[in-house]
Amino acid sequence: MKKRTHNCGALRLENVGEKVTLSGWVDRRRDLGGVIFVDLRDKYGKTQVVFDPERNAEVHKIADQLRNEYVITVCGEVQKRPEGMTNDKLATGQIDVKIDEIEILNASENPPLAINDPKEECKENDDLRLRYRYLDLRRPWIQKNLILKSKFLKEVYAFFYDNEFENVETPVLCKSTPEGARDYLVPSRVNAGKFYALPQSPQQYKQLLMIAGMDRYFQVAKCFRDEDLRADRQPEFTQIDVEMSFVEQDDVMGLFDKFVTEVLGKVWNFEPPKNIRRMQYAEAMLKYGSDKPDLRFDLEIHDVSEIGAQSEFGVFKNVVNAGGKIRGIAAKGCLDFTRKQIDDLTNYVGRYGAKGLVWMRVKENNEVETQVGKFFTTEQLNALRDAVHAENGDMMFFIAGPEKTAATAMGQLRLEIARIKGLLDPNRREFVWITEFPMFEYSETEGRYMAMHHPFTSPMPEHLEMMLSGNLKDCKAQAYDLVLNGVEIGGGSIRIHNPEVQEKVFRLLGLTEEQVQEKFGFFVDAFKFGAPPHGGLAFGLDRIVATMEGQESIRDFIAFPKNTSASSPMDQSPSEVDLQQLQDIHISVNLGKK
Ligand code: AMO
Ligand code: AMP
Repeated sequence: MKKRTHNCGALRLENVGEKVTLSGWVDRRRDLGGVIFVDLRDKYGKTQVVFDPERNAEVHKIADQLRNEYVITVCGEVQKRPEGMTNDKLATGQIDVKIDEIEILNASENPPLAINDPKEECKENDDLRLRYRYLDLRRPWIQKNLILKSKFLKEVYAFFYDNEFENVETPVLCKSTPEGARDYLVPSRVNAGKFYALPQSPQQYKQLLMIAGMDRYFQVAKCFRDEDLRADRQPEFTQIDVEMSFVEQDDVMGLFDKFVTEVLGKVWNFEPPKNIRRMQYAEAMLKYGSDKPDLRFDLEIHDVSEIGAQSEFGVFKNVVNAGGKIRGIAAKGCLDFTRKQIDDLTNYVGRYGAKGLVWMRVKENNEVETQVGKFFTTEQLNALRDAVHAENGDMMFFIAGPEKTAATAMGQLRLEIARIKGLLDPNRREFVWITEFPMFEYSETEGRYMAMHHPFTSPMPEHLEMMLSGNLKDCKAQAYDLVLNGVEIGGGSIRIHNPEVQEKVFRLLGLTEEQVQEKFGFFVDAFKFGAPPHGGLAFGLDRIVATMEGQESIRDFIAFPKNTSASSPMDQSPSEVDLQQLQDIHISVNLGKK
């Protein structure tokens, strides 16, 4: 028998009467008083095929053995389904196929996952799904994700080729360099005691390609980062990586405005704004408590440090006296939050460092009611209410603390309130560029300033002098992130192309001349031979597709992802290896005493 004339999503009313052959998996089998109905499934859809003992007793007998996930080929005649038997949810739901011939190509054991369950009903634990990932991937709702990503990539390639970018591959075995996340290391067999690192991104190579005169580079590049995993982070993930010569910030952002309109707009069939709005980092941190604000809803945060400091409330006064800030928010229509809900919110913000949560209710006549009322005058309470734009029906929340903590905890509270009130509209897409990031960020754990983006990022031209004179706190970078619905989908910067400035930045980051030579010598040297001004950006491929689909986790957009402990329950990686393999690469493993 021929394997197929049509796929399982193809047949329509106009095929009625045709003799067809279909192949696929048994999605579901029902025995209705002698007549057996099978939903036959492949990548393209499902078709109902019918085994009637009166049409062909022998074939019907074979069909009786069919179980879920058997692979079969069937041949028969397309017929219009009788009145009342049609299925409008299925593209092929107006017809079915009366079967005359069948061949069982492969049997299947009872699958550990119910492949035909709709997404909402797939409640197996993640490790079971990952252990049988090839079955999990058979599920139409997850197969759809991979097909979408594939379609998106086609448009991505077309866009960059159409805009004169060259697709250049860069090494996967690289030199380990400091800064950024932890590297994955690969021991060298030929060079005893030496290691390659897997790239966290092709950052240095793409800059070297600009020095090499490639002008416009792009690559769909695998990146590897040994960091703690979350829903939107995988140890290996894919970037759409881009670098351009002779450009300024506006050129790079402008190109990606066009990318969003032309590529995302086309694949997801919507009309994004021509120019994506821009917001400075400082404004995002103040109003939204995050450098990746979710702008699908308002709930703006306000600074009430001045008003709070004037009150007799010890918590507020002390925080402001110590240089901290008080941030407040009006939770619209949340007057009815229960004590339990408020306690839960207090615990929630505690996870982000908030030492507590003050709440106040705005009752009729806009009167403010609060348990800590005795520490405030009526004027102060009214001033707080007006500062956060609260009115009757609202609950107000305040967090006091060091600026970063107060901002971040309030940002998280803002998101949590939005979740509770159902404000995260999955059908809205709010893009925003975050600009003017600080160049440096003080790390309490390291006890020094670190590069906020990476050490090759250029300061804003007007802040160069400030930086060279050692004021790191106020120095801003020519760096930009693209944020969609509260997710950082891409980020980049204009790079330093002047070797002296680069040296200076390394020095400010606490690297000695020897360390720079040892870690980045090849890179720094290249800039001595005429580096063009350049800049670029990298998009997280997995994150864009997941976020465009309204999903938080990128896992279902990666065929074979790792679990939260960075391992694969399917192939059992990472795994132990033979002693001989270890000896070959000059490694001895010491796990210490259990
Ligand atoms: P950055 O580190 O911001 O920049 O990464 C760029 C984008 O990659 C995505 N991303 C991730 N996605 C999934 N899992 C991860 N672990 C992960 N880490 C990052 C994010 C992020 O916005 N070389 C620079 C770019 C440049 O300056 O051109 C870089 O790698 O969506
Ligand atoms: P306490 O003085 O610790 O009993 O706290 C009195 C009230 O202030 C409680 O409702 C706390 O949740 C709240 N609170 C304490 N510290 C802070 C803070 N840093 N920011 C906001 N509210 C706080």
